[in-house]
Amino acid sequence: MGRPLETSSSESLTVRDNRTGKTYNIPIVDNSVSATAFKAISAPAKPNEREESGTEKGLRVADKGFLNTAVIQSEITYIDGEAGVLRYRGYPIEQLALHSSFLETAYLLIYGSLPTKDQFRVFETEVLHHSIIHADAEEFFRSFRYDAHPMAILTSAFAYLGSYYSEANPSLQGRQWQTLFTKGDKASLANMDKQIFRLIGKATTLAAMAYRIRQGRDFVIPPTGLSYTGSFLYQMDHLGEENYVPNPVLCKALDVLFLLHADHELNASCTTVLQTGSSLVDPYSAIAAGCASLYGPLHGGANEAVIRMLISIGSPANVPAFIEAVKRREKVLSGFGHRVYKTTDPRSYIIRKTADEVFKVTGRDELLETAMALHDAAMKDEYFTKRRLYPNVDFWSGLIYRAMGFPMDFFPVLFAVPRVVGWLAHWRQMMLQEGGVKIWRPRQIYVGAGKRDYVPMAERESSLVNSDPKKTPSTVPHSGMTKRTMLASYRGKSKL
Ligand code: CMC
Repeated sequence: MGRPLETSSSESLTVRDNRTGKTYNIPIVDNSVSATAFKAISAPAKPNEREESGTEKGLRVADKGFLNTAVIQSEITYIDGEAGVLRYRGYPIEQLALHSSFLETAYLLIYGSLPTKDQFRVFETEVLHHSIIHADAEEFFRSFRYDAHPMAILTSAFAYLGSYYSEANPSLQGRQWQTLFTKGDKASLANMDKQIFRLIGKATTLAAMAYRIRQGRDFVIPPTGLSYTGSFLYQMDHLGEENYVPNPVLCKALDVLFLLHADHELNASCTTVLQTGSSLVDPYSAIAAGCASLYGPLHGGANEAVIRMLISIGSPANVPAFIEAVKRREKVLSGFGHRVYKTTDPRSYIIRKTADEVFKVTGRDELLETAMALHDAAMKDEYFTKRRLYPNVDFWSGLIYRAMGFPMDFFPVLFAVPRVVGWLAHWRQMMLQEGGVKIWRPRQIYVGAGKRDYVPMAERESSLVNSDPKKTPSTVPHSGMTKRTMLASYRGKSKL
């Protein structure tokens, strides 16, 4: 905690509050200062100051958009955004992409070290064993409209899946079951790992079912004897042929892409999973929340947005005009820019190389030329270099998915499925941290109205009625109303 200065250690920050003249000594631990230490710094309210400012209650630390706030201690993933470094549990992403597999890397992310042969065999068997889902779930998938976005289906499916597992539900299992291992309860850890196997195992099944329902295909039972990505491709594509085996180059490419997407420390979706999980809700609900967050176009929805952008550009000849439109802020260059990387995202080099392997089997995607022209133009243009906007993981990945024949709106699903691993690694770490889990409850700076008294409707003067469009409900068209229903009258009722 921050306290008025007595002695100052060199590992500390000395802060002088010029409002009061008091000096505080705030310890620096792990190159960070505690935001709660600043709460000890308070001052008397100024005359006429709004009571909502809370000056006497201690200083707040404002960080809109989490630009420089650390919310957890983690041993999982390290990123150096200036140098373009990404390591899972200390291992460089380039080495893992070359030598490891998605499931081996999943083990590494969740449990902290590379598995032995036996450890891996058990883990892989557990994950693949848990790929089958209850037959009733078919009804759930059939309840979606033919044109439902697959991310809407997948997000709902994770929450739906949780309804099968009462042993993971805190209201039925005890509100802190996930944290009980820290008090010596080994069964709680086994229960947690079972949910982890299930969620990773069933992620491909749910995603494949979301795919098949849109194609009008019946569902298939997950196969045996195939790899994680092989099983996924089989579940999407198998149409009853005998001895169907997905193409090994595509299985391998998808495995590399899954490995690259498995974790990326505290991005928006992982933070959402932890924030949701901090209320000690079941992991299925937390993963569903992460899936929803991932789908935004600033995050995992960018791979879909990149392809839509490339199609709209049309050909390399139109790239200069597009770049100019971005500079006029009429457009955004999807697949460029990153909150942490201020150089090329290291994953994008590996993806670019993987794309060439895939194109050897599938043929080059016709959008590749436009993508390369756009990439080269942006890398040379001062607008992008000055802001340090470089290609991120999503710039090339959509081209591979497209070449592999996935529909565009399925691309974010191909990001979400492997990211389940990273979300669960962080969730498990948080549940097992010493001292238990604190609910994530940020503060706000309240700038709204001061206390005011309720005015009955009949007494509201027009001056009290707000006409600011941001503060009044919009008039909306009703798409369900046809001209005929609008013109109809309703017996015993006034017209709509
Ligand atoms: N195209 C054009 N201008 C951009 C872009 C872009 N893609 N990204 C950032 N800028 C500009 C932005 O307008 C701002 O300019 P100024 O300072 O003149 O106002 C400056 O660069 C800084 O951008 P920012 O929005 O403050 O940066 P941020 O860290 O808040 O946002 C980002 C990061 C990834 C949301 C953003 O770069 C972006 O929207 N990129 C496009 C979407 C995308 O590719 N997302 C995938 C991210 S990587 C994978 C993942 O996380 O899922």
